[in-house]
Amino acid sequence: MRILIFGATGMVGQGALRECLRDGRVTEILSIVRAPSGVSDPKLTEIILTDLTLIASQASRLGHFDACLYCVGVSALGMSEAQYTEVTHDLTMTIAKVLIRRNPAMTFIYVSGTGTSRNSHQMWARVKAQTEDELAAMKFKAVFDFRPGFIQPLHGVTSKTGWYTAQYLLTRPFAPLFVYLFPRLATTTERLGRAMLKVAADGYPVRVLENIDINAAGGA
Ligand SMILES: NC(=O)c1ccc[n+]([C@@H]2O[C@H](COP(=O)([O-])OP(=O)(O)OC[C@H]3O[C@@H](n4cnc5c(N)ncnc54)[C@H](OP(=O)(O)O)[C@@H]3O)[C@@H](O)[C@H]2O)c1
Repeated sequence: MRILIFGATGMVGQGALRECLRDGRVTEILSIVRAPSGVSDPKLTEIILTDLTLIASQASRLGHFDACLYCVGVSALGMSEAQYTEVTHDLTMTIAKVLIRRNPAMTFIYVSGTGTSRNSHQMWARVKAQTEDELAAMKFKAVFDFRPGFIQPLHGVTSKTGWYTAQYLLTRPFAPLFVYLFPRLATTTERLGRAMLKVAADGYPVRVLENIDINAAGGA
């Protein structure tokens, strides 16, 4: 499997990249990042693009991948709806449109979040829902939305978001038990990454994967 990954410097993306590197089915990984991840491996090529809205400049290199793991995202905390929409919706759609022109036979995996809904009173949930809906309408081979809730970072994975890091430090002693007891609410970076690869390789009975599906597909 040839995998394209966006957001590999973030918590979800680091976990996904780790599983790609360890999975024998994955033969080639192209990671597009704003700054080097510091990871090197014979399977991995990194493109450094400081402004991802300029992704069309790399279009010729994006054509032959089986799946895109889209792990870019920001916390809505302290952001206006316009600022959050620019990263969460506009950037995602800019990239998806370039990818589909190059290769509609690709599976697109979008990392969204628990509670995503058009009818939510929370701004972030509505923006994610709009993004999910517009991606679903695109004629990729398949589009899957992953909606994790609490994510336990494993294997040295760290978040780029300051308050998430604080939250993970505070919850670290209880996180394994929480994930074990509440698979409908929580998962780990390892299961999330494994689930993405399982779904990319084999598909999945539902298009929107909540925590319970992520844990099932990721081998809980
Ligand atoms: N962490 C959680 O507990 C959790 C739970 C549910 C859902 N999610 C969702 O998972 C996704 C990833 O979250 P995360 O926890 O991995 O976040 P993170 O650790 O903060 O990482 C964010 C990633 O997105 C990239 N990014 C952010 N803004 C960008 C921009 N304007 N242009 C290009 N790249 C940009 C970052 O790149 P740089 O390194 O260049 O900044 C980084 O790779 C988000 O959509 C989030 O809502 C996370």
